[in-house]
Amino acid sequence: MSYREKAQARAEALLSRGQGYVLAVESSCDETAAAVVDLNQRVYSNVVASSAKVFEAYGGVVPEIASRKHMELLPHVVEKALCDAGLTLDDIDCVAGTMGPGLVGALLCGLSYAKALAFGRDLPFIGVNHMEGHIAANQLEGPMDYPHICLTVSGGHTQLLYAQDPVIFYQMGQTVDDAAGEAFDKAARALDLPYPGGPNLERLAREGDENAYAFTRPKLKRPMDFSFSGIKTAVINLLHTAEQRGEKINRADVAASFQKAVVGMLLHNAFAACREMDVHTLAICGGVAANGYLQNRAAAEAGALGIKLYLPSRAMCTDNAAMIGAAAVNRIKNRQFMGLSTNAVPGLKLQYMQDALHI
Ligand SMILES: Nc1ncnc2c1ncn2[C@@H]1O[C@H](COP(=O)(O)OP(=O)(O)OP(=O)(O)O)[C@@H](O)[C@H]1O
Ligand SMILES: [Mg+2]
Repeated sequence: MSYREKAQARAEALLSRGQGYVLAVESSCDETAAAVVDLNQRVYSNVVASSAKVFEAYGGVVPEIASRKHMELLPHVVEKALCDAGLTLDDIDCVAGTMGPGLVGALLCGLSYAKALAFGRDLPFIGVNHMEGHIAANQLEGPMDYPHICLTVSGGHTQLLYAQDPVIFYQMGQTVDDAAGEAFDKAARALDLPYPGGPNLERLAREGDENAYAFTRPKLKRPMDFSFSGIKTAVINLLHTAEQRGEKINRADVAASFQKAVVGMLLHNAFAACREMDVHTLAICGGVAANGYLQNRAAAEAGALGIKLYLPSRAMCTDNAAMIGAAAVNRIKNRQFMGLSTNAVPGLKLQYMQDALHI
């Protein structure tokens, strides 16, 4: 029997049992991660080795170095994920790996590792969209209501989606320039904060006055879209002008005002989308969802409007492999296993499937 036939038989057995374990691998940026989840999206292990410290000296991720770190860390991270779950490879029923979007070299490391494991063990394979992973992170906290509005806010993406079910999304808005996380990172750099900028800017903002500066919300052609580059440029200009004039500026006030403006824009559109679609449930996900100020404001506004709010735990907001496993489970239940010719796609869009193996 060929690999394909054996994997297909294993996939059929998994679907008819309705339970089993998925080993998921994530390597799209600077986190090397592996996790084991079951078909009920229960997490058995979730191991994340971040190389963020390595990139502090460079002020950002260096793609070639990120790939090398993944190569070094992958075997250890996968072994630890199995060990933490109290399982061996013999217990695994399906392997999943992030196929995009992300840095192509970084993606290839984890994806090839996952495909090799699947091939070596005759296991079915699923290539996962990283953003679908961020969205699925909320499912790890418990069952979700559908349809709902989902705001994805990460380092490379900012999207407002209507989630019809766990795998069908309609885009209602997106950023026309920087992603929210990117804006946080760039503003943090202008404020001389170390990489990664987002969490450091949040820390500084706690000591500042959020009403010290008014960064206005730009007018956009499509009302549900976002734009952050104007706010980021306003921060940079404010700091440069003060420096040139030799004026002292309270950096914490700038950080707090910037954070208020960005979060205000995110939540304004998210709640407007709920109103527009007459949906009373909002989910927020992605690295920026780890921001405590955003979490508090979202909870307060959702409470006042009678909207049910889903937010993943902080560890599940930033890149991890449990969320990739959760997204893979959605695909398994949809019988969307994939072949081993699945390649890394750096600019992968949501709902993009290739080499589908419909069983
Ligand atoms: N507490 C925080 N406040 C604001 N931003 C944060 C916080 N924690 C993380 N971030 C931001 O989240 C981003 C990282 O999130 P994530 O890991 O989801 O992004 P990514 O994987 O690089 O991008 P993508 O998921 O779009 O491919 C960074 O831009 C980081 O600054
Ligand atoms: Mg991410």
